[in-house]
Amino acid sequence: MLGLYHRNPVRIPGAACRGVDMTDYAALRAEIQNFTPDVVIHCASRTDVDAMEVDEEGAWRANVLTTRNLLDALRDSGAKLIFISTDAVYSGAPGPHDEEEFPAPLNRYGKTKRAAEQLALQRPGALVARTNIYGWNLRDKLSIAEWFLRAQQQKHAVSGFADALFSSIYVGDLHDLLEAAMAKGLDGLYNVACRDGMSKLDFGRAVADLFGFDTHLVLPGSVRDAHFTASRGLDLTLDVTALEQALGQLAPTMAESLARFAADGQADVQGQLRAGLAAEPEPEQARYPAPDGRVPYGRQWLDDDDLAAVDAVMRGAWLTQGPHVAAFEQALSDYTGAAHVVAVNSGTAALHLACMAAELGPEHEVITSPLTFAASANAAVYCGATPRFADIDPITGNITADAIAPLITPRTRIVTPVHFAGQSCDMAEIRALIDAKQAEFGTRIYLLEDACHALGSTYGGKPVGACEYSDMACMSFHPVKHVTTGEGGAVLTQDVALGERVRLLRSHGISRDHLTPEQMPGPWYYEQIALGFNYRITDIQCALGTSQMAKLPRFVARRRVLVERYNAELAGLPHITLPTESPERLSNYHLYTVRFDFAALGMDRKAVMLKLNEDHIYTQVHYIPVTHHPYYRQRFGTGPGDCPHADAFYAQCLSLPLYPAMSDADAAHVIACVRGLLTASR
Ligand SMILES: Cc1ncc(COP(=O)(O)O)c(C=O)c1O
Repeated sequence: MLGLYHRNPVRIPGAACRGVDMTDYAALRAEIQNFTPDVVIHCASRTDVDAMEVDEEGAWRANVLTTRNLLDALRDSGAKLIFISTDAVYSGAPGPHDEEEFPAPLNRYGKTKRAAEQLALQRPGALVARTNIYGWNLRDKLSIAEWFLRAQQQKHAVSGFADALFSSIYVGDLHDLLEAAMAKGLDGLYNVACRDGMSKLDFGRAVADLFGFDTHLVLPGSVRDAHFTASRGLDLTLDVTALEQALGQLAPTMAESLARFAADGQADVQGQLRAGLAAEPEPEQARYPAPDGRVPYGRQWLDDDDLAAVDAVMRGAWLTQGPHVAAFEQALSDYTGAAHVVAVNSGTAALHLACMAAELGPEHEVITSPLTFAASANAAVYCGATPRFADIDPITGNITADAIAPLITPRTRIVTPVHFAGQSCDMAEIRALIDAKQAEFGTRIYLLEDACHALGSTYGGKPVGACEYSDMACMSFHPVKHVTTGEGGAVLTQDVALGERVRLLRSHGISRDHLTPEQMPGPWYYEQIALGFNYRITDIQCALGTSQMAKLPRFVARRRVLVERYNAELAGLPHITLPTESPERLSNYHLYTVRFDFAALGMDRKAVMLKLNEDHIYTQVHYIPVTHHPYYRQRFGTGPGDCPHADAFYAQCLSLPLYPAMSDADAAHVIACVRGLLTASR
């Protein structure tokens, strides 16, 4: 047996496992020719439905091109092809849907899978299985059943869609049905799923029930309220009569399949699978080893190609004000979709210039989060404005429309939500509030995202920084951030005028662009037309930034693998609350901030930090609320008590080490030490 993987190496007993990018035809064909398979099960696919909706090219490459390459690579082979397709090829009209129904996918995911099905069905003997599966994941992504279970374990209320129906099957049952189908030599198109259907709400409650949790934490929700980027079919239940008749056996019911999922959970199938995981190729840290083998809370990842990019600029003509700045801005624009990007020399400078572009002055107020680095509020104070602090949601650490609403007055000029630890605030909700308040007061209120934590995160499937709901977003490229330029930042916007204003202010307010050729006395000439700053970033830094941007998807993926491991191995321990993530707001995990009940643990935060230091683990506190800082207390009369949720968060929070260059061994070490602390107290 040969297992081919793309990003996540796996080890399967008795199987060779090799990495291959299936969009690379030559590489794929070489694997197939070397191995000469009898059966090929094609389950490679992208399933990030919302991200794919806005990434036509990426979706096509991952779902259709891979299939075409595979079919081409198999042209001279007699191997049986089994293609794993999806229930998303059906429209979502009332089901159950059978194979005779004309597919009418509602989103790009379904459309690309349908296109791939059509290719696969051209191959004689190919079996196309339309399904929807869940199971115990090795890493990274949670299946829907695991997601409901995790919420129960962490005692979080979650919503299950009452109006979304499906026939999802446990992957172990899918395996058995496919094995039976192969034994019978089935080919053509079949629904391979459970024989009945249920809503996602009932599914969530069934999971809770099976694992002995109270079902009241699974609340009824509606797909319509979820603001997904991609449309979702409501009824995706599948009719499996054709399969059952062909096999002469019944498919399991959803209850039976879930019971098997639970039984495998009790038997620790996941632990056994994880134990079989190949060790990740260790990140290359030789060049910049952490001092004394310490495990810090965050740090950069620099490869030889980053150094080569910097080296090339250092030997070239431009150290600053050259072409590498625009190239870095273009890379940020390409990644986020923001039309205008202005790179500057820090995240703080970005926030300051964004406030200036919004013409913020002493007559104004700015509403932001207390749970942030002081720069979020300082930027407003630089302009003479008064900061106001909205309290946070105690679970996400983000400010919400409900907390912002009472603070908005006719003096409010800017609202600056901070995407704490990388997870986006609910921007649609905040946008709606601002629209309503602008209409009420007849004022202009700018929505400015402090996205300094959130490059690489998504909101409703779109990259944070796309500014779909905001006027501007600011990024930071400090070394603990996802992408570093040493120091650095950027303002992103879809608004050409705001972009031009920030660009002007970045460099003293000096311009030539406003002059016609006739107004130019000579090539030396420029004018200062506004009071700006020298907030320029160098070409050296931008060369590093562009090189780092190419690695951003890998950085995010690696952090998410580590988070998955933290979540799995710290779940259910006493006195600790783990971070949560909503599927509409995928986090880049800039930080992994847990909360300890220090009182119940019988150790204060300092003792915990010092104990971990003994094991070379260095944690950090995010954040001392801005309202607590002496400067803000003295100048604006803030203090503890202003934002009780932020105060409570501060009392409990501690950020554990998390960075892409963190090795598996370091992660295991941190987990073991934290577990030791928590279980010693029982
Ligand atoms: C939320 C937030 N905003 C702004 C900043 C300021 O960014 P910089 O350090 O690049 O000036 C930071 C930096 O840590 C931050 O975390």
